[in-house]
Amino acid sequence: MTIGFIGAGKMAQALASGFIASRVASVDKLFASAPSMESLQGIKEKINNINVTTDNKDIVRKNDVIIVAVKPNILSQVLKEIAPVIRSENLIISVAAGIRIPAIEDPLPNGTRVVRVMPNTPCLVGAGASAYSLGTYAQSRDAETVNKLMSAVGLCEKVPESLIDAVVGVSGSGPAYMFVAIEALADGGVKAGLPRHLALKLAAQTLLGAGKMVMEIGAHPAELKDEVCSPGGTTIAAVHTLEKNGFRGALIDAVLESCNRSRELGN
Ligand SMILES: NC(=O)c1ccc[n+]([C@@H]2O[C@H](COP(=O)([O-])OP(=O)(O)OC[C@H]3O[C@@H](n4cnc5c(N)ncnc54)[C@H](OP(=O)(O)O)[C@@H]3O)[C@@H](O)[C@H]2O)c1
Repeated sequence: MTIGFIGAGKMAQALASGFIASRVASVDKLFASAPSMESLQGIKEKINNINVTTDNKDIVRKNDVIIVAVKPNILSQVLKEIAPVIRSENLIISVAAGIRIPAIEDPLPNGTRVVRVMPNTPCLVGAGASAYSLGTYAQSRDAETVNKLMSAVGLCEKVPESLIDAVVGVSGSGPAYMFVAIEALADGGVKAGLPRHLALKLAAQTLLGAGKMVMEIGAHPAELKDEVCSPGGTTIAAVHTLEKNGFRGALIDAVLESCNRSRELGN
């Protein structure tokens, strides 16, 4: 299978690098387009020998699977541009936040197979979290293709499209919240006397480890939290401070804000 990216920014780079690292695609089978050779510089630097072009239509002509990874506000313009060269073999995968399936299908020829995917940037390191919804004409083999690609770079779940905005709120935007958390944990460590590089390493590994425990042990996070809070100990004192400062409420609000913004983009 050859895969063509339209748009060569952060998400295209994360997915393309992840596909190569997981061996789901080799570099000679990956193509990318962007408006200028300058815009393609980043993906060329990350992925040696990737095939590049400034012609979006060329990507559609040369590949069956097309991943459209442009900003949501220009998606419709790009879909209109490629519509005349769409073939029955093409599967169009959109990763644009907020843009709903009817709006993706509308500019394309009737019957075009479309899948809407919401990935996140940890796909770059094989630890992505993606959810997808099938378009009107997508078939079970298209679900298999998307599952194969996205599972190669992390977790992949099929959801009804009505839930995609909520997925944006949790995992699409989520890495940013966790980067802030890592930075803040490290700042705390530095304030308490740790060298910066060590504080950052410990903080990042702690988030990684906590996530791994939830996924692998399968216990409720509240149970795991209780286990590390000994009576009168250090951890419960810290948890008390987090609760007083609205830690849970801030995260819940962040998810809802991102989800609402995704809905707004869709309108
Ligand atoms: N980043 C994330 O964490 C994340 C997570 C989930 C979903 N997404 C979705 O992924 C999509 C891409 O996001 P991103 O973060 O990768 O954005 P980005 O880094 O800005 O990349 C957008 C790419 O599209 C190119 N482009 C602009 N106009 C184009 C055109 N007419 N034809 C072809 N390519 C064009 C840009 O080139 P120039 O540099 O020349 O403008 C750039 O290479 C968005 O729809 C976003 O909602 C992103």
